[in-house]
Amino acid sequence: MKTVIFVCLGNICRSPMAEMMFKDLVKQANLEDQFEISSMATSTYEIGNPPHPGAIAELNKREVPVIEHFGAQISDEDFKRADVVIGMDEQNIIDLKNMAPAGCSDKVKMAYDVLGVHKVIQDPWYDHKFDRTYSELAEVLPAWLKELTK
Ligand code: 4NP
Repeated sequence: MKTVIFVCLGNICRSPMAEMMFKDLVKQANLEDQFEISSMATSTYEIGNPPHPGAIAELNKREVPVIEHFGAQISDEDFKRADVVIGMDEQNIIDLKNMAPAGCSDKVKMAYDVLGVHKVIQDPWYDHKFDRTYSELAEVLPAWLKELTK
């Protein structure tokens, strides 16, 4: 069993999209019994809030099943149970490494690391470009599935 936690700043745009898209990939590969997948925030800004309507609209457009979700901040327990904690951009990684309990900071990766490139999943919060978020996540998530089933 691999425990994967996707993380962004607010846990209402990028990381819930990543969670739902990755769950869909895992389901299509018939690997649901091998993964525990969730998403969390570094911040407390959106605790208890549902995903951004733009994120839900994009997932619907791409026929990715939308699962009930409420914003939550990553905890020490989450870090401890995770195999990998996948952040979206450099600030997420800085924050996650600062928040990680002892022995857990090596679990923190940036989404594009798996492709060996230095790019970020850009924040759609200001420009509402959720189609770009989808495309960026669609680039990296199949590679994470491959990496985590090696
Ligand atoms: P996310 O987007 O990190 O992709 O969920 C954001 C959500 C909320 C805020 C910023 C980014 N905010 O400032 O509340």
